Amino acid sequence: MSLNNKNILLCITGSISCYKSVDLYRRLKKAGANINIIVSASAAKFISPYIFESFGEQVFEDDAFKSPLSHIELSKFADIILIAPATYNTINKIAAGIADTLITLTVAAAPDKPKLLVPAMNPNMYANKILKENIKKLCEFNFSVVSPATGAAACGDYGEGKFPEIDDIIFEVESAFKEKTLKGKKVLVTAGATREYLDPVRFMSNGSSGKMGISLANAALKAGAEVTLIALNIESGGSAKYINGRIKIIKRADFAGLKEALLAEFKKTDILFMAAAVSDYSFKEKSPVKIKKSGISEASGNKSSNDNAASPTLNVELVQNEDLLKTVSGIKRAGQIVFGFAAETDSVIENGRKKLSEKSLDYIFINDVSKDIIGGEENEGFLINKSGEIKSFKRENKEILAEKLIGEVA
Ligand SMILES: Cc1cc2nc3c(=O)[nH]c(=O)nc-3n(C[C@H](O)[C@H](O)[C@H](O)COP(=O)(O)O)c2cc1C
Repeated sequence: MSLNNKNILLCITGSISCYKSVDLYRRLKKAGANINIIVSASAAKFISPYIFESFGEQVFEDDAFKSPLSHIELSKFADIILIAPATYNTINKIAAGIADTLITLTVAAAPDKPKLLVPAMNPNMYANKILKENIKKLCEFNFSVVSPATGAAACGDYGEGKFPEIDDIIFEVESAFKEKTLKGKKVLVTAGATREYLDPVRFMSNGSSGKMGISLANAALKAGAEVTLIALNIESGGSAKYINGRIKIIKRADFAGLKEALLAEFKKTDILFMAAAVSDYSFKEKSPVKIKKSGISEASGNKSSNDNAASPTLNVELVQNEDLLKTVSGIKRAGQIVFGFAAETDSVIENGRKKLSEKSLDYIFINDVSKDIIGGEENEGFLINKSGEIKSFKRENKEILAEKLIGEVA
């Protein structure tokens, strides 16, 4: 994620969750942002502005009369005004046009700048219709909102109103800087690896982590699309993968499950990114019970032909799966876009061109998996469009690459 050289005015108002704004500040800084900070008088009771000063920041405390033009200067500095946490008090005051604190005054001086509210308060306060109406009103005037999390509040009440995860806030800040090139479009992404089961515990799969597909889903959401993700075993592989909560997730495990979900969802889709690593084969027969170790060679009549001649063997038959990309391309309506991915170890471009034409794709991203890409954080490869044009993408983080690929299609 990158906010390189973006100017962010971080406004902190008086919530019990103020301490979380320190983590938020550090993440924004790490993402490359230039930051100015205003701390309201109430917020200064919850956290000391000295924390931010210790990180080398100049903190503006809530006295507009101390430095007379700071509200104008700060409003001009900001590429975005981020109010996190945003109190019931400050949100309602802004909506009423009140400008009696440095934060509300700076907001009043920045009508054309994007503003992001991160409400955090007791669930009953968050459910209050006065607040709800005012948030709705503000959303018509260049404000957007990060929905609070649900859980137990500091006072013990349970419900919606908690300060959200920092990842969710960073996502929305980044999103605010993205052009909504896919607004009104429905995007379907498949991610992860299918598992073909031999018996209830054993399966055949591959090392795909789902990271590329997840990155595409997040990037499409940032570009304004409505996004559905068919997720195949993406929990495997260890590293945590952020998926924004506004993405609809459909979990499936094997080829049959993927096919069923894909065909149902494809009809409603404008753009399909088929980033999942789908097994080309399934087991001809799946045992309903765990296959036992003993008696395999006798039962199946198999004889081992490998070096380990004394060991029993188990022969299984594989059947080729249908090519789902070919199937969806065959039923696509005018205007629908099908974007395929392919992993190759040799003749990468040649094989890419062949797959593009055989499967009637609009785009194919083809990568050389001999280069240690599967399951990793980075990717590289070639994008070929249906006119045959090739674009090379150098190795970089999958999130950045995903944004570039979304840009190509948009
Ligand atoms: C202990 C305590 C905790 C509070 N927590 C919150 C909170 O989480 N959210 C909120 O909207 N207000 C909360 N308030 C109320 C605000 O601090 C109060 O409305 C204040 O006037 C806000 O001023 P500001 O919006 O200028 O920062 C809390 C008050 C107290 C005393």
